Amino acid sequence: MRKKIVAGNWKMNKNLDEAKELIKGLKKEVKKLKLKDDTRVIIAPSFINLRAAVNRTKKSKIEVAAQNVHQEKRGAFTGEVSVDMLESVGVKTAILGHSERRTYFGETDELLAEKVNTVLGKGLEAIFCFGELLEDRKSNSHFKVVEDQIKKALFHLDKTSFTNVVLAYEPVWAIGTGETASPEQAQEMHAFIRNLFVKEYGEDVANSISILYGGSVKPNNAKEIFSKPDVDGGLIGGASLKVDDFTQIIKAI
Ligand code: G3P
Repeated sequence: MRKKIVAGNWKMNKNLDEAKELIKGLKKEVKKLKLKDDTRVIIAPSFINLRAAVNRTKKSKIEVAAQNVHQEKRGAFTGEVSVDMLESVGVKTAILGHSERRTYFGETDELLAEKVNTVLGKGLEAIFCFGELLEDRKSNSHFKVVEDQIKKALFHLDKTSFTNVVLAYEPVWAIGTGETASPEQAQEMHAFIRNLFVKEYGEDVANSISILYGGSVKPNNAKEIFSKPDVDGGLIGGASLKVDDFTQIIKAI
C-alpha cells in the first residue's frame, strides 16, 4: 500500500528561532490529528535548521528532509552539503531536482541521476521533483518533458531502488503563482507518470510509489486534489510556513 504524504518545502525561509517556533506549533497540531499509519508528514527546512528540526520532532509523527544535497561524497565543493553530513544530523530524506534548483542552479537530469545514486547509495530516501514549464504545456509537449525528466534521472535504477523514491510532480507554472493545476490536470499527469512505471518496472513498483503534487496547494484546494486516485499527497511551499494552513492541508489527505 503506497503511503499518503504531505511534505512542506520551506525553501529559503525561517531563521533558527522562527524554525523552532513553527515546529513547536506544528507538533502540537499534528499530535491532535491521530494520523493513520499509511500517512507521512515531512518538513524540509533549510540546512542550518535541520539538526534543531530533527531534535524537536524525534517523538512526533513529523519527519525531516533536506531540500537538496551534493552528488559527491565529500571534497572541495564550497558551500555544499553531503549525504554523510545529512545522515550525521539524523536526516534520512532529501528533495532532489526542485525546479528552483534546475532553473537557478543549472541542475540537469544527468546531474540529478548522480544525486539520486548518491542518496539511494547511502540508504537515504529521495523525493524527486520534476515538471513542465508553461510553454511546454501550451505547446502540448508537457507529457514528453515529464517523461524525459523521469527516464533520464530514474530509469537506470533497478526495481528495488524505488522503495526509497517518492515522486513529486510540480508544474513550474503552478509553483508560487497561485495558479494551481486543476485536480483533473493533476490526475491526468499522475496517471501518465504511473503508467510510465507500469511499462518500465511493472504493476508492483508502479502501484507502490507515492506521487505527490506540488504547485500552489492551499487549504481550499487540497482536498479535491488529494481525492484523485493517482495523487498520493502534496509537496507544499508557501502554505507549509504557516501552522494553520499546513495543518489544514494535512487534514485533507
Ligand atoms: O516544492 C513545493 C513548492 O515548489 C510549491 O510551492 O508555494 O506553490 O506551494 P507553492
